[in-house]
Amino acid sequence: MTSVWIPSDLHTDASPWTPPLGPLVDIAIVAGDVADGLCWRSIPWLVEHIRPRARHVIFVPGNHDLYGCRYPDEIARAREAAIAADLTLLDCGQVRLVGGIQICGGVLWTDYEITGNRAHALRVAGDRHLGMNDHRRIQTRDRLGVPAPFRPLVAAGLHAEHRGRIERVLAERWDGSRIVVTHHAPHPRSLLHGEVRETIDAAYGSDRSALMEGPTAPDIWIHGHVYVSRDYVVGGTRVIANPRGHDTSFRRRDGTWSDVRENPAFNPNFTIEI
Ligand SMILES: [Fe+2]
Repeated sequence: MTSVWIPSDLHTDASPWTPPLGPLVDIAIVAGDVADGLCWRSIPWLVEHIRPRARHVIFVPGNHDLYGCRYPDEIARAREAAIAADLTLLDCGQVRLVGGIQICGGVLWTDYEITGNRAHALRVAGDRHLGMNDHRRIQTRDRLGVPAPFRPLVAAGLHAEHRGRIERVLAERWDGSRIVVTHHAPHPRSLLHGEVRETIDAAYGSDRSALMEGPTAPDIWIHGHVYVSRDYVVGGTRVIANPRGHDTSFRRRDGTWSDVRENPAFNPNFTIEI
């Protein structure tokens, strides 16, 4: 059996966190949002806090990891940093084999189609005041390499690329176990309310249930980005999310504790056996 430890959305810069002591696991899979700042915060934190606890560390970046960064430049630097630190960075559908387990990962982003009104979802996500912070805090480059804003259509283009690569990996024969890891959610049941309710849901996940219900379904799909714990089955796939979220709990002057955890169901030691 192979032990797989699954924490995500740790936001260690917003509220410091140290994993509790626990046994050495075979694989740690972190599905994004360790901190704002991929190379200068997220990867060093993984090296200090996760690497000592796992024989193999798989990391898929999230949107927050890219805050304050220029997307393609930061990813290129992060690949080098990950290699140097003996971490595996899977950002756009790359594959890592650990024993008989194939792990395919990518941010995934989203297609903005889960609500059924893509044009409206793109407008809401990209609203400069009320939309996703991603489009204010991440920069990118256009096709000519010129610095450019990271607008929702850029994210949708990345989604198509990442999704296509994941689908091609799944289409190839593999006789062992298969895990897909994405930051963005792959099914409506993973959304905040367990279903599609509001337009902004389209920025949090897309519906990849056809992959889970098809003949090439991965055994497990791990994700983050939505700050609720999830563990359910669609078709041949077990979908798992164990996000910490933002934790701004504090001790009051009278010594009592104010519990303001974004996801009280977060299990710091959530581990499965494959
Ligand atoms: Fe996220």
